[in-house]
Amino acid sequence: MLTGKRIILRAPEREDLKLFHKWQNDEEVMTLARSMPDHVKSMVSIEAEMEKDLKGEDPEVRRYMIQEKSSGKAMGWSSIRFHTWARRYHNADLGLCIGEKDKWGKGYGTEVTKLLLEEAFEQLNLHKVGWWTFAENKASIALAKKLGFKEEGRLQDQVFFNNQFHDSVVLGLLKSQYDKRPRR
Ligand SMILES: CC(C)(COP(=O)(O)OP(=O)(O)OC[C@H]1O[C@@H](n2cnc3c(N)ncnc32)[C@H](O)[C@@H]1OP(=O)(O)O)[C@@H](O)C(=O)NCCC(=O)NCCS
Repeated sequence: MLTGKRIILRAPEREDLKLFHKWQNDEEVMTLARSMPDHVKSMVSIEAEMEKDLKGEDPEVRRYMIQEKSSGKAMGWSSIRFHTWARRYHNADLGLCIGEKDKWGKGYGTEVTKLLLEEAFEQLNLHKVGWWTFAENKASIALAKKLGFKEEGRLQDQVFFNNQFHDSVVLGLLKSQYDKRPRR
């Protein structure tokens, strides 16, 4: 369990699947989280997707529930997904979704990302982490840049939803840059 000031990041449990079902059937949440509104998901498909995770058998991803300490309630999920195609564990992408919309804009995303970065660099000794979103996801880009990510490129018309193509934005942060971050 990763412990912050107001939240913990803990392993997903079978009881959390109902929350995944709620969040992953929300068009706005899924569009922002996945850069595509893939938001028609049955409980069975969610169970199937999460099965390896629940058993701790997926070597490609570490997935965490974001849980508020004060209420004990989960508000979203986050992940560290390794770039395993090279069969090396140097790089990973961070993923983060606060599914409870009334929790947006209150600093939780910042706290979650700091915990993920601490885990990625100070425990897993990764060399680099990446962050992907689409150009109009202002909150996601602001959050990544606030914590030191640099924009590395834009992929033109990479994703399609709401009857138009959107650019994808790729950001990255090296461990050497993280080590020099201003302490707050
Ligand atoms: C994106 C997300 C993780 C941000 O988390 P959050 O808790 O809402 O963000 P925070 O309150 O920690 O704010 C982080 C920074 O982003 C900025 N920000 C937050 N919401 C913003 C918005 N709607 N527009 C522009 N900037 C915004 C904040 O101003 C803050 O910077 P500051 O401290 O310099 O003011 C969260 O809104 C979310 O889960 N959204 C839905 C899914 C998603 O987009 N996931 C990311 C996919 S890569």
